[in-house]
Amino acid sequence: MRIAVVGSGYVGLVAGACFADLGHDVIVVDNDQQKLAALTRGEVPIHEKFLPELLQRHRGQRLKFSDDLHAAVRASAAIFVAVGTPPTDSGDADLSYVESVAREISGGIDDYKIVVEKSTVPVYTSEWVRKIILRNGADAELFDVASNPEFLREGTAVTDFLFPDRIVVGADSERCAGVLREIYAPLSDGSYYQRADAIPHPDRAQVPPPLIVTSTKSAELIKHASNAFLAMKISFINAVASICESVGANVQQVCRGIGTDSRIGPRFLNPGIGYGGSCFPKDLMAFRSVARECGYEFRLLDEVMRINEEQRQRFLRKVRNALWTLRGKRLAVLGLAFKGGTDDIRESPAILLIQSLVQEGCVVVAYDPAATERAREVLRSNVEFASNPYDAAAGADALLLLTEWEEFSALDLAQLNRKLRYPIVIDGRNLYDPEIMAAHGFSYYSVGRAPALPEGSPTSGDGRGQGQKKI
Ligand code: UDX
Ligand code: UDX
Repeated sequence: MRIAVVGSGYVGLVAGACFADLGHDVIVVDNDQQKLAALTRGEVPIHEKFLPELLQRHRGQRLKFSDDLHAAVRASAAIFVAVGTPPTDSGDADLSYVESVAREISGGIDDYKIVVEKSTVPVYTSEWVRKIILRNGADAELFDVASNPEFLREGTAVTDFLFPDRIVVGADSERCAGVLREIYAPLSDGSYYQRADAIPHPDRAQVPPPLIVTSTKSAELIKHASNAFLAMKISFINAVASICESVGANVQQVCRGIGTDSRIGPRFLNPGIGYGGSCFPKDLMAFRSVARECGYEFRLLDEVMRINEEQRQRFLRKVRNALWTLRGKRLAVLGLAFKGGTDDIRESPAILLIQSLVQEGCVVVAYDPAATERAREVLRSNVEFASNPYDAAAGADALLLLTEWEEFSALDLAQLNRKLRYPIVIDGRNLYDPEIMAAHGFSYYSVGRAPALPEGSPTSGDGRGQGQKKI
């Protein structure tokens, strides 16, 4: 199948590389010349596991890069639109990129093609895309608009694409659904998984994945509803974590107790400093706004967003409680990315927290395995960047863990303790066992669990209610 993917961002580039790995001929189109030049030179613009291998495998052969959308459309049977849909000031998704791409696609429709929304868009976008393509002169018989939402998590996007829980195809005609079925056949018939050069099978993946065919509108809703539900799960457990802190219960134990109920499930139940990233915050606002336009006040989503914001504020209070005053304090921060495994800092709670701490007069020394370059662009005064966790910790008044990178859960605790000026760790991601931290001489504060203090340590600020309980 000949495929065009418009937009070479996190979603478009991964989709393009994976379609090529399924055996299709792919042209990835972007209007950013610098990005295209870098991709053509063989550079990999984002930190994403297995993406360098796939680009290396297919670049210049089954995978080409171009700025000529018109030619790419003419050459392709399916055009996937994966340009950004950023939020406007009112929280709606800004669909102007989608519209301008639809306008341009129209001129290239010379035989039957399908135009597929890959970006997260509000319900009804497919109708608008269809109208715009018609308005610009395409023959109604020669195209269909479909929705094929992606459920890629950054950091594991390639395996999420190739080993998905499900493939959702939203199409309003059998002909259109047929094209998408053919594109995904190597996954849905399981043949991809038999190949010796297939990307390694991740734990937990059940193959082959089911392919669910729905109406286009249902598929658009599935994407927004899925992200809203996952964000709700995170806010729910963050709220439960706050109650655990008040009563001296342990949220980890509570999570285990509720997550083993197969109706609830253990995933996306990790409390922390709130969700971030380019999807959840934007999609929640957009879904809220879509619902309002349709006449439904989805107040549950307001609460999910409020709890998320509150979670960051609670963490700041924890830092204050552990350190008393903040002005002039030197803080080591591990983690800048919005989650582990990615260099993305969009809507990163770590960045927002660092900005608040700097505003309160702290000096921050930060380390992240992948996101430092991007963070440098937004964090300037009073933030230094270290090249490893121990340099970040050197002479610091406390260490903050803000991103769930795997390497942060296996630090050399004795070395860390020696480096810090005071052995205080405030963990926003619950990466350590409080008992073990206390045994290594740390005053350790985490989320939804009582603080753990080393034997004989002076009691620290947080003396009210939860302060001195040890698990
Ligand atoms: C995507 C989806 O678009 C978004 O809806 C979803 O919720 C998250 O993933 P992402 O891939 O992260 O966004 O976007 P981004 O990294 O901004 O990439 C978009 C690409 O499209 C950029 O490379 C940009 O240059 C390109 N683009 C944008 C075009 O080629 N043409 C345009 O008109 C606009
Ligand atoms: C999300 C969706 O998971 C994916 O299906 C969709 O296509 C795009 O949006 P992504 O934004 O890459 O993916 O990251 P995700 O792994 O979902 O994490 C989002 C945020 O929630 C991160 O800040 C993460 O740290 C936080 N999170 C996640 C928690 O705080 N607790 C959890 O249990 C899970």
